[in-house]
Amino acid sequence: MTETSIILIGPMGSGKSTIGRLLAKELGYPFYDSDKEIEAKTGANISTIFEYEGEAGFRLREAEILDTITRISPIILATGGGAILLPENQIMLKARGYVVYLQCSVDKQFERTQKDSNRPLLLIPNPKEKLREIFLFRAPIYKKIADFTIDTGLNSSKTASKQIIQEYLRSRTSIDENC
Ligand code: S3P
Repeated sequence: MTETSIILIGPMGSGKSTIGRLLAKELGYPFYDSDKEIEAKTGANISTIFEYEGEAGFRLREAEILDTITRISPIILATGGGAILLPENQIMLKARGYVVYLQCSVDKQFERTQKDSNRPLLLIPNPKEKLREIFLFRAPIYKKIADFTIDTGLNSSKTASKQIIQEYLRSRTSIDENC
């Protein structure tokens, strides 16, 4: 079977890291979380990077790390919610893996991110409104580059991970058959 990476995209609180770890365990591929890689390389957490370099500085670091990690294959990659913002990242992610969009309602995202202090975009008086705004802008991009979309608000992480593996294996088999 042709093995390719699984790249998880989706908003904050959609379950990318949790589901990513489950996929990695099941398929035996190494797991990478782009935010964690950025923090390890920079020696500072995401909030500190935003504070000193702004979102634009963070996006540059993110693009660089994504380029480095996606050269390793096959892996499971959990991206940050805004990893799809730069057009060059969209092309790169699509070209280097099977892209799965973890879709999730704003209410669910809010519930899951409420207690987290390392998401600088949400450290504002009305984080739910921000999540809604981000959702409206990014959902079409997530959909455009995804090979497969799954709702992680309705499904448990285990169920979502099983369905993703089924679809991933099916897509790989059909590629092999067409070769
Ligand atoms: C961001 C999402 C975060 C992190 C940064 C910016 C975003 O990752 O990359 O705070 O723009 O949506 P998670 O989606 O893993 O929370």
